[in-house]
Amino acid sequence: MDNSRNSKLPEKIPTHVAIIMDGNGRWARARGLPRHAGHRAGVDNLRRVIEACTEFGVKYLTVYAFSTENWRRPPAEVRSLMNILEDVIDRELQELHRNGVQLRHLGRLEGLRPMLQRKVRHAIELTKDNQRLVLNIAWNYGGRDEIVHAIRRMLEDGVRPEDVDETLVSSYLYTAGCPDPDLIIRTSGEMRVSNFLIWQGAYAEFYVTPTYWPDFGREELLEALYDYARRERRFGRVPGPLTTG
Ligand code: IPE
Ligand code: IPE
Ligand code: MG
Repeated sequence: MDNSRNSKLPEKIPTHVAIIMDGNGRWARARGLPRHAGHRAGVDNLRRVIEACTEFGVKYLTVYAFSTENWRRPPAEVRSLMNILEDVIDRELQELHRNGVQLRHLGRLEGLRPMLQRKVRHAIELTKDNQRLVLNIAWNYGGRDEIVHAIRRMLEDGVRPEDVDETLVSSYLYTAGCPDPDLIIRTSGEMRVSNFLIWQGAYAEFYVTPTYWPDFGREELLEALYDYARRERRFGRVPGPLTTG
C-alpha cells in the first residue's frame, strides 16, 4: 500500500493553482527520446496532477500548454502538439466528465484548425455544469494577447472610459468568473513568466522546481502546497494577521 496517500494535507489549500508545464523537451532529451515523447509523457503526468488536485481540494487548476509564442517552434512539433490535444479530448473527455471536471479554454480558439475548434467547444459544452474541479487549458494563450483581445471587445461593446475599472477588465479576460491564481508553479527551473496570466497573477505566490514536468507528480505537488501554506501573503500590507481598514 502507498503510505504517502495518508500524508496530512496542509491546512491552507490554494483555491486556484496555475502551472507552467515546462521541461518536456529536456525530459525527453535526457532519455535519448524525441521531443514529442516528452510531450506525451507530459500528458500522462497531467492526468496524475488533475487527480491529485481533486484529492487535495483545489477548485481551479490552470495549465499552460501552448503559448502564442510556441508557434515559433518547428512546424512538425507544433503539429504534434495539436495532435496531442486532439487525442486527449478524444480519449480523456468522458473520464474527465465522469470525474466532475469542468473544462474551459483560455486563449484564441480561432487560431486552431476547425476540427480541433469543434472538439474543444464540444468538451466545454459537455462539462459546463461540472463542479468538482475547473480545469482551464491555456492553449494558444498569451497574457498580452488576452489583454489586447479584452480591449478590443470593450471598445466593440462601447464601454465608456469612466466605466473601466479592474473588475470590468477582469470580466473581459478569458478567465472571467475564475478567481485569480493563488499559486503559480513552474517546472524545469526556469524563473520567468513567459506571458502567462500576467494580469491575474499580480499577487500570486510563485513556486519554481527544477523537476521536469513529466516527473512532477502528486508528491511534488503536495510539496508545493506545503510551501504555499507557509507563505505570508501581504497584498501590500505590513506583516501580521490580515486586518481591514
Ligand atoms: C513544455 O515543455 C511544453 C510546451 C511548451 C508545449 P517544452 O517543450 O518547453 O520543454 P523544454 O523547455 O524544451 O524542455
Ligand atoms: C512556456 O514554456 C509555455 C508553456 C509551458 C506552454 P516555453 O518553454 O514555451 O517558455 P520559454 O520559451 O522557455 O520562455
Ligand atoms: Mg520550455
